[in-house]
Amino acid sequence: MSIATPTTPVIPAFDKGLGNTVAAETQMSFIDGGRGVLEYVGIEIDALARNSTFEETVFLLWNRRLPKQSELNAFSEQLRAEYALPQTLVNLIREMPRAAGPMHVLRTLVSALSLFDSEVDNDSVEANNHKAIRLLAKTPALIAAFDRHRKGKPIVEADTSLTMAQNFLYMLNGSKPTESMARALDVCLILHADHGLNASTFAARVTISTLSDMYSAMVTAIGTLKGPLHGGANEEVMIMLNEIGSIENVDAYIAEKLRKRDRIMGFGHRVYKAIDPRATYLKTFSKQVAADTGNLNLFEMSRRIEEIMAKEVAAKGIYPNVDFYSATTYHSIGIDLDLFTCMFAMSRIAGWAGHCIEQLDGNRLIRPNAAYIGPHQQPYVAVDQR
Ligand code: ACO
Repeated sequence: MSIATPTTPVIPAFDKGLGNTVAAETQMSFIDGGRGVLEYVGIEIDALARNSTFEETVFLLWNRRLPKQSELNAFSEQLRAEYALPQTLVNLIREMPRAAGPMHVLRTLVSALSLFDSEVDNDSVEANNHKAIRLLAKTPALIAAFDRHRKGKPIVEADTSLTMAQNFLYMLNGSKPTESMARALDVCLILHADHGLNASTFAARVTISTLSDMYSAMVTAIGTLKGPLHGGANEEVMIMLNEIGSIENVDAYIAEKLRKRDRIMGFGHRVYKAIDPRATYLKTFSKQVAADTGNLNLFEMSRRIEEIMAKEVAAKGIYPNVDFYSATTYHSIGIDLDLFTCMFAMSRIAGWAGHCIEQLDGNRLIRPNAAYIGPHQQPYVAVDQR
């Protein structure tokens, strides 16, 4: 019997890492990596970081326009009404191993949240809008409650008179934050809210494109964000700053890393080949926050690393990314190193949820091809003859 010769299927050229593939349309953020531009719905990120609030920025992303004051108030109220966690979930948090990694915990708890949402499998636009609000509003409580639990402290209930940034710091520390601490977190939340088709957003869109549910998409995204080449980089930046220890050690440390061809965390970006526009504002801002909180040494070390990198690798298009200065900012406002990536997730839920809703509007299953590079026409060999 003759074996049919396989025909060569016509598949597009392999694009490793998908850097040259456009896989979705979005109306939320625009990125020009060559010029270092990021806009949310046409508004430059710098203007939003200086003037907006996280709640207003999320309204902008989800509604494609800035809210009137009354609309912003109503949106904030909707979020505040969803701050609290189901008691059963709080009990579950109390049972969690204290040594667990916070991103593993967050991924698990966001999945568990779905069990308490009666609209979990309702994929109407209205139900998805509700789920987006619930996910955004409850995630800070999940992170703060686990942090309190692992430190043996009582879990603090949400205060619905506070903004999302204020309330998170209140639930984390058990006391209301100063205005400047809350503002620092708010700025970081604005800067991280959305960023085109980054790896975790792509992952969320792939999941929702199967007509799975929004919670599953968030779980996929959190797992993807966790990696050190993506959201996990801010933790790695802080670990590096701790390892360096003081400004005198910076030059030798970075020289050795570059000699070994190690990556310097917080530098480089798949899209930006100029400075990441989120890092521009954060640099100035983190200096102020660091000065106010006695952490200027961290800022000075970071600035020196940036100077060396500018000499050594800027020609390759490697500049600081948002994670480089967000690490110093988070540390300065008293957030533990292993919560940094959770901060990123807390904000990016806005982008992930917005992208899920966009994907479902005219959805087509996301299913790329793989170029098969193995052999053909191999005989099947019986197990006792291998
Ligand atoms: N430090 C030193 N060299 C670097 C760095 C870095 N951080 N990033 C890239 N390079 C070098 C590479 O070694 C490579 O050099 P070569 O051409 O001589 O081999 C060149 O720059 C291109 O690197 P690629 O890996 O092809 O770039 P890619 O677009 O795939 O990677 C990435 C982007 C993953 C972000 C990379 O820059 C990196 O690993 N950075 C450190 C991790 C980090 O900060 N991630 C956060 C990204 S921002 C975010 O997720 C919010």
